[in-house]
Amino acid sequence: MTSGKTDIARLFRRRLLAWYRRHKRLLPWRETSDPYRIWISEIMLQQTQVDTVIPYYERFLKRFPDVFALARAPLHDVLKAWENLGYYSRARHLHAAAKTIVDQWGGRVPDTPEAIKALPGIGDYTAGAILSIAYGQAVPAVDGNVRRILSRVFAIAEPANDPQAQKHFYDLAASLVPTGSASDFNQALMDLGATVCRARHPACSVCPAASLCLANRHSWQERLPVLRRSPAVPRREAVAAVIRNAQGYLLVVQRPAAGLLASLWKLPGGFIAEGKTGTIALREALCAELDLSVRVGRRLCFVDHAYTHFRLRLFAYEARISKGSPRPRGCADWRWASPADVKKLPMSRVDRKLLEALADADG
Ligand code: ADE
Repeated sequence: MTSGKTDIARLFRRRLLAWYRRHKRLLPWRETSDPYRIWISEIMLQQTQVDTVIPYYERFLKRFPDVFALARAPLHDVLKAWENLGYYSRARHLHAAAKTIVDQWGGRVPDTPEAIKALPGIGDYTAGAILSIAYGQAVPAVDGNVRRILSRVFAIAEPANDPQAQKHFYDLAASLVPTGSASDFNQALMDLGATVCRARHPACSVCPAASLCLANRHSWQERLPVLRRSPAVPRREAVAAVIRNAQGYLLVVQRPAAGLLASLWKLPGGFIAEGKTGTIALREALCAELDLSVRVGRRLCFVDHAYTHFRLRLFAYEARISKGSPRPRGCADWRWASPADVKKLPMSRVDRKLLEALADADG
């Protein structure tokens, strides 16, 4: 770095730390130095907003107060504690990583970049966050928010979401992290990105870096960061069958242990392939999943859901078994679920939404 740049870096660091000490958000994972709790918080905070995470974090830690409790719990309980938080592979990875931490690391979250990144569910950002927050190591934690701040303060026009620019942003962040205050510095960047240097309408009048920020000086806040457009999100449709037995119990299936929403429970059904009707797709799905022939009745309701890679519209149809009895062919398991069972089984957000819509439609 040139001396002008080094001065800016020094001032930026100092102002950001002073600001954080006065304005930091009071968050439950900031009241602990327990690496286990910090790890849990960082996994929950991947792709999920702070306000959504807080109640999950608190409930999860009551239920699994240490890594031993998490490692010995059945996966079903971990998925249940995660229900509606989304991105369920995080829960499965957390559970698998807990077992590794107990078996290989004596119950202590490892503290080297190599060992921590070898755990499932931990990439560069989360490794940087845990190593700096739990162990005070001077490593950066660079996500989209941090790249936005750096691109504005230092007027970087490279597309911030371009894989080729990642090293540049990472190296810049690494050069800024102060030894001895890495935890505060990284969390200060997180808070600044969330509350001040927002993507839209940044609050430059209260920003501790305003006088250093090149975007502020040139009024480029709305132009930076430059982002490469991502392709439009595809739309998909799926169907689900509402099949009840004589007791009124609902036929539910467990998804396979690998793939989308693995091991979660749902109503039987599947995607509608291009050019097929909902009825045909449902009959084929029931045959593939449970070896059942069904007669499809009325369409009852639908719900919409946005995943990262596609938007889904899920339709529910009434159906009756016309031939056969359920056999788990394309699913991991199945059962007739009482209303209490339906509440207890771990399901994805979209399947819960569909059940709520069905209950509303029933009046
Ligand atoms: N986002 C990711 N990690 C965070 C943390 N430790 N505090 C606030 N927001 C975060």
